[in-house]
This record gives sequence, structure tokens and C-alpha cells, in this order.
Amino acid sequence: MNPSPTTVLVVGASRGIGLGLARDYAGRGARVIGTVRRPQPPSGLHALAEASNGRVLVETVDTTSPEQVAALRRRLSGETIDVLFVNAGISLGHGDTLDVASDEAFFRVMRTNALAPLRVIEAFADLVPEGGIIAAMSSVLASVAGNTEGGMEVYRASKAALNTLLKSFAARRGGGRAVLAVSPGWVRTDMGGPEAPLDVETSARGMVDAMAARRGRKGVAFIDYRGGEIAW
Ligand SMILES: NC(=O)c1ccc[n+]([C@@H]2O[C@H](COP(=O)([O-])OP(=O)(O)OC[C@H]3O[C@@H](n4cnc5c(N)ncnc54)[C@H](OP(=O)(O)O)[C@@H]3O)[C@@H](O)[C@H]2O)c1
Repeated sequence: MNPSPTTVLVVGASRGIGLGLARDYAGRGARVIGTVRRPQPPSGLHALAEASNGRVLVETVDTTSPEQVAALRRRLSGETIDVLFVNAGISLGHGDTLDVASDEAFFRVMRTNALAPLRVIEAFADLVPEGGIIAAMSSVLASVAGNTEGGMEVYRASKAALNTLLKSFAARRGGGRAVLAVSPGWVRTDMGGPEAPLDVETSARGMVDAMAARRGRKGVAFIDYRGGEIAW
């Protein structure tokens, strides 16, 4: 008898790296539940789902909406999620320094990149069994130890807050699961821009391999798409 396929939930999979993760996992035979913010217009995830023979499912959630997160959690009751990956995030682009960023922009980035991912993880963690993986999309810019040059100040602070909240979550509720803050490298997407050296496929494949290598190892780690550890 074939073992049941791994089920992966990628939150924020309409485009960019999240879509790349959904595509990579689906290519490895996993059952993938990906989320978009809006069902219309159809996203890259919809196209992936249509070609997937039912292995890729499209769900809808805005991670900053507690009501929508709770509704998605209710819809997925009874699922076993082997890999929960919260990818959704935003940036302020160039010129992201605190002296020019508005308070509203600061709160929006903090809410989307730090608070919302942990709200999602808190809501879905009970669906992830021992030996499973709970991951959030971080960035090498999250490293407090590595912040020698500044820049991208609000974004950097939001990802550092994400990492800290993830560590606290792991201490409180990690149990026998791997809890991972994952850096994708600098990737050519709408956010990363055309100058980025990495394509989505290479980054996604590397992250999926790096997470697979951590499967069954409980504890929290900050890793990059090549599997190396990054200083917190
Ligand atoms: N690209 C890089 O070089 C790089 C480097 C380090 C870290 N990262 C991180 O990697 C992740 C993905 O980045 P990307 O480059 O793929 O960016 P992207 O192309 O801008 O895609 C962002 C994704 O996040 C979703 N999203 C944003 N806010 C959301 C919300 N409130 N609720 C649900 N979904 C939301 C977007 O959905 P919509 O389509 O609905 O907007 C989209 O699917 C982010 O967390 C980013 O910070 C990227």
C-alpha cells in the first residue's frame, strides 16, 4: 500500500516564491493546499491547480483578517498538515528607512510580516503532527547579528520580529516538530525585482530540500535555501 502523500499548506501562494513552493512540492507528489488573497482574477496557483489532477487545491485567506484565518481553519478541520509554510509578506521597497516611513506603513508591514504569520501558525499548529514542519518565510535581513549595514529598516525589523515570535512559539508550543524561519535568498519576483540573482525555481527547490533535511528534527532553526544556518 502506498503511504498517503505529504500534505503541504502554503499560505500566500498566488505568485512569486509561494507559488514556486507550491509548484515544487506538487512536482514531488505532495498534496498541496495553497492560498490566495482574492479568487479573482485567477492567479498562477489557479493554473497550477487546474493542471494538477486534484493534487493542488486553492483556498482563500488574507492573513491580516482574523475572521478569514478562523474561517479557513474551520474549512480545513480534519486535515493533517505535514508542512505548514506561511509565505505571505510585503515590503516597502526602496527608501525603506524609519525617518521617512509613515506610522501607518510601519504598522502595516509589522502586522503583515510578523503578527499575521504567527496568528496563522497559532491557528493551524494543531493540524501539524509530531515530526511535521512549521515554517515561516523570513529573510537574511532578519538577522540582528548580521545587521551591520542597515537599510530596509522597517522590513528588516518586521522579519526580526517574525523570527523572535517564531522562537517564542517554538519554546511554548513547538513540541516534536521542526519550527523553521527560512530565508529564500534574493529572488527575482515582484518584490525581489529583476536584479535578483536567484530564480524562483532554484530558491524553492533549495528550501524544500533544506526543510526535508530537517524533517523529524524537533527544535527551532533559522536556515537559508541552501540549508545553512543563519545567525539570529
Ligand atoms: N523576493 C525576495 O528576494 C525575498 C527575499 C527574502 C524574503 N522574501 C519573502 O518571501 C515572501 C514572498 O516574497 P515574494 O518575493 O514572492 O513576494 P511577492 O511576489 O510580492 O508575493 C507576495 C505574496 O504574498 C501574498 N500576500 C501578501 N500579503 C498578504 C496577506 N495579507 N494575506 C495573504 N497573502 C498575502 C501575495 O498575495 P497577493 O498576490 O494577493 O498580493 C503574494 O502571494 C515574503 O514573505 C517576502 O518577504 C522575499
